[in-house]
Amino acid sequence: MPDDITTFFDRILDVFSDGIYISDRFGKTIKVNDMYEKLTGLKKENLLGRYVKELETEGVYDIAINPLVVKTGKPQTSLQNTSTGRKVILNGHPVFDHNGEVAYVITFVRDVTVLSQLKEQVSYQAELIEKYHREARYLRTRNHTNTIIENPKMRNLMELLKRIAVTDSTVLILGDTGVGKDVFATHIHQYSLRRDEPFFKINCATIPESLIESELFGYEPGAFSGASTKGKPGYFEMADKGTLFLDEIGELPLPMQAKLLRVLQDQEVMRIGSTKVKKVDVRFIAATNRNLEESVQKGTFRSDLYYRLRVAVLELPPLRERKEEIIPFIDFFLDKFNTKYRKKIDFSPEVKKLLQEYRWPGNVREMENLIQGLVVTQDKAMIEIEDLPNYLLNNKEMQEKLQLANVINTEEQSLGEIMEGFEKSVLEKALASHKSVAKVAKALKVDRSTIFRKLKKYGIIQ
Ligand SMILES: Nc1ncnc2c1ncn2[C@@H]1O[C@H](COP(=O)(O)OP(=O)(O)OP(=O)(O)O)[C@@H](O)[C@H]1O
Ligand SMILES: [Mg+2]
Repeated sequence: MPDDITTFFDRILDVFSDGIYISDRFGKTIKVNDMYEKLTGLKKENLLGRYVKELETEGVYDIAINPLVVKTGKPQTSLQNTSTGRKVILNGHPVFDHNGEVAYVITFVRDVTVLSQLKEQVSYQAELIEKYHREARYLRTRNHTNTIIENPKMRNLMELLKRIAVTDSTVLILGDTGVGKDVFATHIHQYSLRRDEPFFKINCATIPESLIESELFGYEPGAFSGASTKGKPGYFEMADKGTLFLDEIGELPLPMQAKLLRVLQDQEVMRIGSTKVKKVDVRFIAATNRNLEESVQKGTFRSDLYYRLRVAVLELPPLRERKEEIIPFIDFFLDKFNTKYRKKIDFSPEVKKLLQEYRWPGNVREMENLIQGLVVTQDKAMIEIEDLPNYLLNNKEMQEKLQLANVINTEEQSLGEIMEGFEKSVLEKALASHKSVAKVAKALKVDRSTIFRKLKKYGIIQ
């Protein structure tokens, strides 16, 4: 007996690579193809002749779009998760009778699981690209030409840096806040054989303690509540073949110190929630403005990690110990900010002199901020002492230095006056530190009565 048209029609439906589901205007299931069974895990015999509403009530479907198609006479779309764990997109279309009424609803079911996996992968890649961009921007702001090295100690350190850079050894950079630890860290990477590989920086002080582990090690999908469903690589993995700069290492919580030590020794990492160990090839640079030896004694820093990090140390001196660099730095930052803000501001010789004497507790960063502030706020071409912020002048040490500088005024004073002024300030200082006339006399190798007479003459004592 030849096959009738309905049987052929069924076979035709089975050829489609989309799932197909046809119901009449009352929601009764008329046809279901093979692919539909496969995608949804539902059996034809359990569906044919059944009503969509019933199936929805029984929980077979989460939302049925057929009633909406019948009601509106318009195509409808919906995204659903099937009991087989797949993500499908439903496209329901009305089929009209000769009166223009909806007679049937045909729904195409397309598997988008792979698509949504691809989408997640794409967004993960986009995140990675953004991270690389950030890193590139960071590196671009630091090249060799804009680093000031004008002091013998700093030149030696730079030579040492170049020697260390090519060895791949872990480097510990020490120094007060703002001395240039970040600058030196990027130089290490740039002078190393890894210069074309990634350079990542992570600040151990600014990442919340609860997030440090996942930032460093990454995690597997669903490793903890709130974790992204796609999982995430940590910095150890991302910096593979490149350099990882652990800034403010002194702030790393103790449990993480133990984990970091293991990574340093074995060059192996395991994502949170994973059982698989992954080999990584990372060069580590650590920096801190803390005295780690003290932290070790206090028990806030592991001694084994400290010794492991101490393989090669670069200790950057504070700016006040690099007096030769102060003028070059002033010129460098004036140039930088004049260009940036289209100005032509300069400092008077007195201001430059004063800045050479200042203590610079915030080091290079403090100088950079000071000069930026002045260039932005001042309109005059020449900055004088009175234009400087008060804190620069208001400390005792600065006052003394200024007094001493004022003593030497070759325009209006005779040599005798200059020498007297100088003598006066020497005596004031000596008395302040030695406290008694006898001790001052001994220190300055002058007899007591002479000192006494001079102190009276200058009005230092009554
Ligand atoms: N030798 C240098 N030449 C040019 N600019 C420098 C130099 N040293 C430091 N700077 C600039 O001074 C600022 C502070 O430097 P950096 O961030 O490297 O200090 P740091 O030691 O890392 O400070 P912190 O301890 O606060 O992290 C930066 O803007 C940096 O570009
Ligand atoms: Mg820094």
